[in-house]
Amino acid sequence: MRGIFVTGTDTGVGKSVVAAAICAALTGRGETVAAFKPVVTGLDETPPGGWPPDHELLAAAGGGRQAPSEVTPYTFGRPVSPHYAAQLEGEPIDPRRIRAAAGSAARGADALVCEGVGGLLVPIALGYSVRDLAVELEMPALVVARSGLGTINHSLLTVEAARAAGLRVAGLVISPWPERPKPIEQSNRATVEELTRIRVSCLPPTTPSELASAGDTLPLEEWI
Ligand SMILES: Nc1ncnc2c1ncn2[C@@H]1O[C@H](COP(=O)(O)OP(=O)(O)OP(=O)(O)O)[C@@H](O)[C@H]1O
Ligand SMILES: [Mg+2]
Repeated sequence: MRGIFVTGTDTGVGKSVVAAAICAALTGRGETVAAFKPVVTGLDETPPGGWPPDHELLAAAGGGRQAPSEVTPYTFGRPVSPHYAAQLEGEPIDPRRIRAAAGSAARGADALVCEGVGGLLVPIALGYSVRDLAVELEMPALVVARSGLGTINHSLLTVEAARAAGLRVAGLVISPWPERPKPIEQSNRATVEELTRIRVSCLPPTTPSELASAGDTLPLEEWI
């Protein structure tokens, strides 16, 4: 399936904002885009900054073609790792259901944009990681990273973990990339690019209503 698997160096790094910007930009270009997220956790908490929960944001970014319930097969209230949320809430996660839901979401679409959960080695279920899903879907990975201190290590670890499983990393994105980046942020970007030999793009600060124009600044043709 043509598309991209949006992973990140951590939870809360901007995967949903980047994935939604990609969906909105492709939709704006007339493509039929499907979004998918294997598991959404933390629905008991109010997301920061006025952003809706991931499956709602992703469904809206594709123009409302999908209902939020078609974007993800599993939702949990607790803000914890999927395998633990499943344990706490007594609903075990079945990787087969995730694969089937990804296939249903992708049906009839020109491209699939899949958002991971946390980082690549997060267990969806014990013995089935986010990385395992990306490998099964045979999609190139896009790594979303923070701009500041610590991001070099986290970015290199993520790229190494992706490559170790045979995933192709199509690109990295720093989100949000500040309007006036500090020297350390510019150095981080250049250093990650130099050490991974992968282009590091930047998504500027955006809002839920400006996602398409933000996504249009990204090198989508290079990734998808
Ligand atoms: N480009 C951006 N413009 C504006 N806000 C941003 C941007 N990137 C990230 N953020 C902020 O960072 C927060 C976390 O981003 P996001 O929800 O996309 O992270 P995530 O990696 O998808 O997290 P999770 O692991 O929970 O899925 C957002 O709620 C938003 O406040
Ligand atoms: Mg998210």
